Amino acid sequence: MIKVVVCGASGRMGQTIGRMVKESSDLELVGGINLKPSKFFNVDIVESKNSESLLVSTKPDVLIDFTIAHAAVENVKVAARNKVALVVGTTGFTNEQRAEMEKAIKGNVPAVISSNFSVGVNIFWQLVRDAGKLLKEYDIEVIEAHHRNKKDAPSGTAKTILQILEEEVGPRKKIYGREGVMERQNEIGVHVIRGGDIVGDHTVMFSKNFETIELSHRAYDRSVFATGALHAARWVVGKKPGIYGMSDVLSLKK
Ligand SMILES: NC(=O)c1ccc[n+]([C@@H]2O[C@H](COP(=O)([O-])OP(=O)(O)OC[C@H]3O[C@@H](n4cnc5c(N)ncnc54)[C@H](O)[C@@H]3O)[C@@H](O)[C@H]2O)c1
Repeated sequence: MIKVVVCGASGRMGQTIGRMVKESSDLELVGGINLKPSKFFNVDIVESKNSESLLVSTKPDVLIDFTIAHAAVENVKVAARNKVALVVGTTGFTNEQRAEMEKAIKGNVPAVISSNFSVGVNIFWQLVRDAGKLLKEYDIEVIEAHHRNKKDAPSGTAKTILQILEEEVGPRKKIYGREGVMERQNEIGVHVIRGGDIVGDHTVMFSKNFETIELSHRAYDRSVFATGALHAARWVVGKKPGIYGMSDVLSLKK
């Protein structure tokens, strides 16, 4: 059995992951971490200040983090110190936070970090890459929509889309929404929608005169992210220390 601790255990993703770990036959839920102590699926959730003692007492194989950027950085440090493998799904990191996590991980533990654990989105990213290679002359717009409680914008998935496009079509200025009088330049427009309970929609639009190509992914249920995160958790245990992506877990071409 692979022993799992979930960080952000009381959150939307933490609850979904906890339930799915509990339902699996090869994973064992040994604890949760959140801001306040509580219980989920018959195990203790401890306050984040007690996370180290939870890791020492339960000796998990892997810690799965779906919290908020500043918290995830601290959780990664604690897990790395205790040689616990990592799956990090939290988004919204600054470059400095990302560097801090990488420093803690390298040489210490294996970690899968991805802004989106859905298999479909990882394939969608590949399609965006292929389209970008062929459509360098097109106007490009990126549109994402999420539920009203999402804190970071644009989404981590949209940022990954922008990074892929930069690699394939070259650097372009990003325009975050438009208002007033402005001429379209060689830019990428980025548009963020927040409302209701939208789980996660992403569209990349490639347009030129008389035609538009749209690539879209729509998630209907958080279980698609949780399924991917559990797949990553099974994969990461026993790997060499270092940072991996879902493309490694799924053996997708880069
Ligand atoms: N990579 C993916 O596939 C994927 C998918 C969905 C969501 N996300 C990301 O995962 C994160 C969580 O999303 P969510 O919808 O579950 O949010 P949420 O707000 O429902 O849950 C986050 C939980 O983390 C807890 N938390 C905050 N600070 C903490 C700390 N210091 N220690 C422990 N717990 C702490 C909060 O109390 C909350 O319970 C976000 O960054 C989101 O963008 C990633």
